[in-house]
Amino acid sequence: MFANVPPPAPDPILSLSAAFRKDARTDKVDLGVGVYRDVSGKTPIFGAVKSAERGLLESQTTKAYVGIQGNVGFLQSFGELLFPELAFAKDYTAVQTLGGTGGVRLALDLVHLLTPNSTVWVPSSTWGNHYQLIKASGLRAKTYNQQKYHSSTSAALAIDDLAQAQSGDCVIFHGCCHNPTGIDYSEAAQDELFASLAGRGIVPIIDAAYIGFGAGFSADAARIAKIIRRFPESFVAVSCSKNIGLYRERLGACFAFGESKELVTAVQGHLESLARGMYSMPADHGASVVEIILKDHQLCEHWLSELEAQRQHIKQSRAKLSDEITKAGGDFDTSYIANGNGMFCLFPMVDTSISRLREVEGIYIGPGGRLNIAALADADVTRVALGLTGSFDRGLLDSDLQSP
Ligand SMILES: Cc1ncc(COP(=O)(O)O)c(C=O)c1O
Repeated sequence: MFANVPPPAPDPILSLSAAFRKDARTDKVDLGVGVYRDVSGKTPIFGAVKSAERGLLESQTTKAYVGIQGNVGFLQSFGELLFPELAFAKDYTAVQTLGGTGGVRLALDLVHLLTPNSTVWVPSSTWGNHYQLIKASGLRAKTYNQQKYHSSTSAALAIDDLAQAQSGDCVIFHGCCHNPTGIDYSEAAQDELFASLAGRGIVPIIDAAYIGFGAGFSADAARIAKIIRRFPESFVAVSCSKNIGLYRERLGACFAFGESKELVTAVQGHLESLARGMYSMPADHGASVVEIILKDHQLCEHWLSELEAQRQHIKQSRAKLSDEITKAGGDFDTSYIANGNGMFCLFPMVDTSISRLREVEGIYIGPGGRLNIAALADADVTRVALGLTGSFDRGLLDSDLQSP
């Protein structure tokens, strides 16, 4: 069986991390993988998480299985924080998943189970794993316009592309902090986009891996809730990797919204049965920690203030990078970098420039020119800005305003 097995295509981000680890240079800079780093270059454990873990160590009395749905206390508390106007187990249900990735996958698997011929529309620039997840679930993907280097005050190009979407199709939308562009629609443009999709039998799948890093936790959640209210059925896949810093605990959830308690209950049964066929029960630790945080007012405030501090730090780094590119002679509008949301932005540069920066200067940049600004140390900003400015490609910048 294993003879003549061709190697799989390497994952562009994970193979970049492996190459970075092997690089012996001491001044190398890793802007590839999407993790937050503080001023000392570490990806910190949130103080609220440490406190909750201490409590859990003392209070936990069993390691027996959790149920297939996962930790219901976590799911309900997180749901109430995200969607305070909706009722858990009535307007929506949720299943605990392995990270946000598991949340997207479970939603897609359910779509495939119920409507196997659905097309899943993804932004033309998106998290690369979306394509793998869609393929693994047996569905097919099509793309709609996503601007790379220009702020999105209009959704006209995306609306044009999505005019072809059929009833039963799904649209993957990044809840906030679009990966890899960092460009979220203005609120008016987002409203326009979803008004054009509403009433057509289309089901949004909102991939929300960065809630809290955009305009702040409650503002980001409110924008997602606004989308949900327009549609009878939708999914939201959330992740606790970045915004609670639980990356390796693999905690996320698939929220499914429906028109009645009966429909929502039926959907929950199917989600659980799909999970049972994949991995059976989810892991416990991360969910128990977050349950403790969410049920303790002080701890919850502590977590939210730590998250807000990370958001502010990233905003400052974005502004510094944008300024330094201009100082280095970049003669194009870099405000999309300063005003963007979350960890990432794309820089208009071709593959050979990305390789040259890595090989010659030890600056590791993700595929398509994706920079993780949340990992950019102050001491490296000027050097990175100079390297980027020398790699700038105007052709890519100009081609951004056309539909794919
Ligand atoms: C857009 C998007 N969705 C989902 C995820 C998945 O996150 P998790 O690590 O929680 O599976 C990521 C993580 O990089 C992401 O960028």
